Amino acid sequence: MSFVITTPLYYVNDKPHLGSVYTTIICDVIARYKRLVGENVIFITGVDEHGLKIQRTAIEKRVEPMAHCDEISEIFKVNWKNWNISFDKFIRTSSKHHEMVVNEFYERVKGSDDIYMGVQKGWYCVGCEEFKDNPENSKTYKCPIHQRNLEWKNEENLFFRLSKYQEQIEKIINNPTFIEPIERRNEIINFVSRGLKDFSISRTNVSWGIPVPDHNNHTFYVWFDALLGYVSAISSNGTDNSLEMSINGGWPADIHLIGKDILRFHAVYWPAMLISAGMKVPKKVLGHGFLTREGQKMGKSLGNVLDPDILLSKYGNDPVRWYLIKDISLGNDGDFQDKRFVDIINNDLANTIGNLLNRTLSMSRKWFDNKVPNIEKISSENKLKYLAKISVEKYINKLDIYKLDQAANEVLSLAINTNLYLNDNQPWLLIKENDKLPLVKEIIYDVLESTRIIGLLLLPLLPELSSKIDIQLGSMYQKEIPWKDQLRWGLLISNSTLPQPDPIINKLEYE
Ligand code: MSP
Repeated sequence: MSFVITTPLYYVNDKPHLGSVYTTIICDVIARYKRLVGENVIFITGVDEHGLKIQRTAIEKRVEPMAHCDEISEIFKVNWKNWNISFDKFIRTSSKHHEMVVNEFYERVKGSDDIYMGVQKGWYCVGCEEFKDNPENSKTYKCPIHQRNLEWKNEENLFFRLSKYQEQIEKIINNPTFIEPIERRNEIINFVSRGLKDFSISRTNVSWGIPVPDHNNHTFYVWFDALLGYVSAISSNGTDNSLEMSINGGWPADIHLIGKDILRFHAVYWPAMLISAGMKVPKKVLGHGFLTREGQKMGKSLGNVLDPDILLSKYGNDPVRWYLIKDISLGNDGDFQDKRFVDIINNDLANTIGNLLNRTLSMSRKWFDNKVPNIEKISSENKLKYLAKISVEKYINKLDIYKLDQAANEVLSLAINTNLYLNDNQPWLLIKENDKLPLVKEIIYDVLESTRIIGLLLLPLLPELSSKIDIQLGSMYQKEIPWKDQLRWGLLISNSTLPQPDPIINKLEYE
């Protein structure tokens, strides 16, 4: 059994922005966590390359659409490598393989008698690649997401019989774990209760798309083609019968993580298309909120777009990840504030976690000959052991339900408690009394052990920081042993050598 998790397939009209980095980091945390608990994860990301928006972008740049897509797709791929994203599959919807999957899928849907020719009239947002429901004054109305005017379309298109699936979709969305969080689910329940209308799946005015086999001048509507990218990603090396290969290779997706603006496509249109093709529907659609900057929508015209490349080179991966994971509750909108960012990183990572490791290591090295103290046995009546056990349990429970911010807070609270334990026990005073040496050894061992567990808990959240902590404690983490087993108290080896100290995180300056 596989665990399939997907990011949206990003439009290649531009390079990645902070919103796409956010989604991809959240998926990466979940994928890493699931691998650690033993799942066979297929983490899919990629790019959505067809459609009017991309066609026009290429025309503006005076390049062929394919050349444009090659360039931007490569930027996405390199970008995810720079962010240390552990994706397994990167799908390009302009690939031949994907085209084959789309054609095979289309044949199945046609076989269910769900395709017919009709006339599509309506107001279209090219930014969303979507028809909008009767805006009141369509000539002046601007799409709230893209701030651009809508375009009138009136053409012959192929339609998909979505209306036929009203009852089945109602049943699917009534399952409370299908769409999360609850606010997102309610939006969709409302939308579906107004009655589902058939939607068009082909275009006659867009040349940059996959040709519809039996209709010469039609290409597939970009969303019809793009959603199938999740399926074709699974069989990326396939030739004939690729669709079948995907079905046998891990479909359906366990989680589609997406922004709230593309929920309808994932939670309504997509399941209906899949049922029509005789395929299983995804198990969960997790909708996250939108990021703003200092309270304002980010946009080129406002000149406040936060370039993720600059963030990464200035601060590194861990700080940005920590902020996005811990400060935004998945499902709610989030705000990126420069001062808050610096404060959170300095408080949580530098002062609480970094400092805990530094001061304990330096005491241990100084008093115990560069080693972990040699203790006789681990006491069972141990306050820190108890606190660590509770934190580990809560952390696992939170990650199991995708409350990433609460899981991060659990790690932080263990670090705070460990610092308090150190302060309460004051080993720097006890070491001056000869008969207190066994007690000092125990205290330092406990604090180092708790820090080891903190490092392990950070593994899916901040893989780079986690590995730095592990190295500083003498590389205790063993990949071949189940991660959960290593969260048990008392595995730090007494009397083992501690390496040269090296700061794991630098304090940030607020400019
Ligand atoms: N190509 C489609 C998805 C097809 S999936 C088969 C698409 N692409 S997109 O590049 O425009 O958007 C990708 C994701 O970025 C969406 O989930 C969208 O919600 C998200 N975001 C766009 N702006 C955002 C913010 N400001 N904040 C957070 N996420 C945002 O839609």
